[in-house]
Amino acid sequence: MKDFLKETLKKDTSLLQYMDSSRKQKRKRHLSRLVEQELHGLSPIQTIMKMAEHQAIRKMGLNPEEVISFGGGWCNHTAPEALRNAYQTILNDATLFHQSGRYSPIIGDSSCREQICHFEDAFYNLTSLESENILLGHSSTQLFHDVLRVVCDPGEPVGFLDPTYANYLNAVKCALPGSPIWFVPALHPQKWTYLKTPDESLEILKQYCEKGLRVFAIPVPDNPTSQIPSEEFLKSALEIMTDANGYLLLDHAYKALWFGEMPRCYSWSPVEQSHLITLHSNSKWLSSLGRRLGWAEAHDTVINGLEKINESVLLSPDSLHSMATARFLEQTLADGSLKQYVNDVRRLYEKTAAVMMSSLDSCLGWKRLTPDGGLYTCCPTPHHVEPRGFVERLLKETGVLLIPGTGFGPSMSSGLRLSYGPLCYMHEQIIEGIERISHYLAKTG
Ligand SMILES: Cc1ncc(COP(=O)(O)O)c(C=O)c1O
Repeated sequence: MKDFLKETLKKDTSLLQYMDSSRKQKRKRHLSRLVEQELHGLSPIQTIMKMAEHQAIRKMGLNPEEVISFGGGWCNHTAPEALRNAYQTILNDATLFHQSGRYSPIIGDSSCREQICHFEDAFYNLTSLESENILLGHSSTQLFHDVLRVVCDPGEPVGFLDPTYANYLNAVKCALPGSPIWFVPALHPQKWTYLKTPDESLEILKQYCEKGLRVFAIPVPDNPTSQIPSEEFLKSALEIMTDANGYLLLDHAYKALWFGEMPRCYSWSPVEQSHLITLHSNSKWLSSLGRRLGWAEAHDTVINGLEKINESVLLSPDSLHSMATARFLEQTLADGSLKQYVNDVRRLYEKTAAVMMSSLDSCLGWKRLTPDGGLYTCCPTPHHVEPRGFVERLLKETGVLLIPGTGFGPSMSSGLRLSYGPLCYMHEQIIEGIERISHYLAKTG
């Protein structure tokens, strides 16, 4: 038996290779290289959110109740009553409740996918979408990670606008070990203008594609800038990615929260544009950050790939949330209340953004970006000082929390992100928060 084992081990070249390489790389460790080295320490946002925890605030000698936070990357409007009723109907009905405890198909509950098709058509004029081109998942966060694994090999480069959503950067490390991140400039760090020279940015994108860029991801509307790139820019970016046989990935986490005219890209269909992938989530528009449901829209080949990954990562997207979402969409699309709800929510955040912009202008006079949608604006730090120290001092001295730009991309290395989302019903707090900053700066110069 011993000899047999020895002989088998000798023949197993992969095992021998592994033993050889692991001997060479011998190191004392408890966890993976990814966790111990690549993801080591707190991200910039984690650092600041830890600082904002009640205990940490008390340690600074502040009363947490008096802190005004422009930090939270979330919305705060109430979810529609019809959604709550949809959950209630399922919970009150023994058969439906039992059904919601079953695994759904790997691609997701079919009635939910069908209702999403109706919704995309009725709201955004996305006419050619089929339910087969929709895959349900846990959230945009999970789907972003899995899309990367479907369209890229580890080590292949991934592109973002600079600045971009800070969570993407660690997601790339997790999904694609060894993949470099390449930034396409969007924000001018001195002038504080956004994509004012789109041709230059597109030229850079083209050059990246020549060097092997596989995917270019843009949140629309964006986090942290709340900008929506022009139709021309997005169209050209899609053409460039298509020519390079790569993908344009539009993250529509904030899709329903646009302020002006509806962006044309909202009706682009991955059925017609096979190199377009879009990600969606109930988190923001339905104020369902904790009721985790997201979906991807893509061409059949990408959906098939995602199904394979979903099988290992999720096995089954959440049945209860899918069933409730399907019922909610069916009812509110039919009675017209969904349009009213979304319009009210859009107006609420547009108004909230306007309060923040006018406070910034009248009290601080800082450069800032006017939101096209979403929940944020970005400003440079006074005198372009390093943002982490500035944010820490500001919190200690005024009880106002901002997010340092570090982590959103090189252009935000002396920038700040201010979120008005959590304060959508508390406009007076926005005004007071900005006033506190203004008084502090008047004292310190
Ligand atoms: C651009 C962007 N995408 C995705 C997410 C996360 O969405 P989800 O809750 O669906 O994971 C956020 C959250 O702030 C975001 O800003």
